[in-house]
Amino acid sequence: MEPLAQLESLREEAMAQLRAVADTASLERWRIRYLGAKGAVKSAVQRIKDLPAEARPSYGKAANQLKSALTEAFESARSKLGAGARRRRQAVDVTLPAERVRIGHQHIITQTIDEITEIWARMGFTVAYGPEVEDERHNFSALNTPPSHPARDELANFYISPSIMLRSQTSTVQIRVMEAQDPPVRVVSPGRVYRPDTVDATHSFMFHQLEGLYVDEGVSMVDLKSDLDQFCKAYFGQQVAARLRPHYFPFTEPSAEVDISCPLCPGDGGTCPICKGTGWIEMGGCGMVDPNVLEAVGYDSEKYTGYAFGMGIDRMVMRKYNIPDIRLLFENDVRFLRQF
Ligand code: DAH
Repeated sequence: MEPLAQLESLREEAMAQLRAVADTASLERWRIRYLGAKGAVKSAVQRIKDLPAEARPSYGKAANQLKSALTEAFESARSKLGAGARRRRQAVDVTLPAERVRIGHQHIITQTIDEITEIWARMGFTVAYGPEVEDERHNFSALNTPPSHPARDELANFYISPSIMLRSQTSTVQIRVMEAQDPPVRVVSPGRVYRPDTVDATHSFMFHQLEGLYVDEGVSMVDLKSDLDQFCKAYFGQQVAARLRPHYFPFTEPSAEVDISCPLCPGDGGTCPICKGTGWIEMGGCGMVDPNVLEAVGYDSEKYTGYAFGMGIDRMVMRKYNIPDIRLLFENDVRFLRQF
């Protein structure tokens, strides 16, 4: 075939192929085949050196025209494909069911804190908060816990310096509240506390407590026991009983531990995973505020008496929802969290 006619038939073939291109992948194959570094146009241009000198100028011109024509056709095919894809992406089928958007919700601990502070609010208690980084005065000294006390051990607390620490109990807030106001005082304080405990099914280095403090003239152990009992029935249900067991805490005298009845077993000494067969679950401590604590904040301990308590919020949640392992509360597995 005559050289110029060869160029013409290459153009026809290429244009016909381009018209059949329907997606970007085949467009790219087309580009490589005709306009690529080893493509058909390139070889057509190179054929010029085999032609007699007088045929070269017209052939060269025609080959260049072919190259620009195919390049232009390629660019326009490419932008058409792009616009089509954009149009397809924008198309909305309004008849499709809407995608369900999952919104988050409060963590079960936060929900519980709201619920229990609400119960205490109905009994006249306001909510107070304190810092998680505390000084040893608020965590210990003002709470009648002398430097020699084992609870202050370096290995039992997260000290930041000899006098600054992550609070090990929310009892710190008792001191902060009493420093800030005169009696009567009626507050609860929920929050995180920290202790270097080895993590297992019932222990964590961080957990939550609810502190309570009621100071006024004539507050007695009767108020303490009946308020705790009312709270337990309101939160856990009327069938739940609470009991006080004599104990020792530096900041209360007398002191007691609070137990609530086991939801799973009658306490028949069996192998119950929650109460170990005793029928009772330990919820926290309580007692009558030690006069030394009242004096440490400048309250007149002859005139005022008070009760205080501290309960484990995580334990309350585990007890109420039968959660067997405290770690579930902090691992943030959404399959667990979505259940609440
Ligand atoms: N702070 C104690 C603890 O973490 C719990 C506690 C016991 C708090 C007796 C109190 C209380 O207010 O009166 O083990």
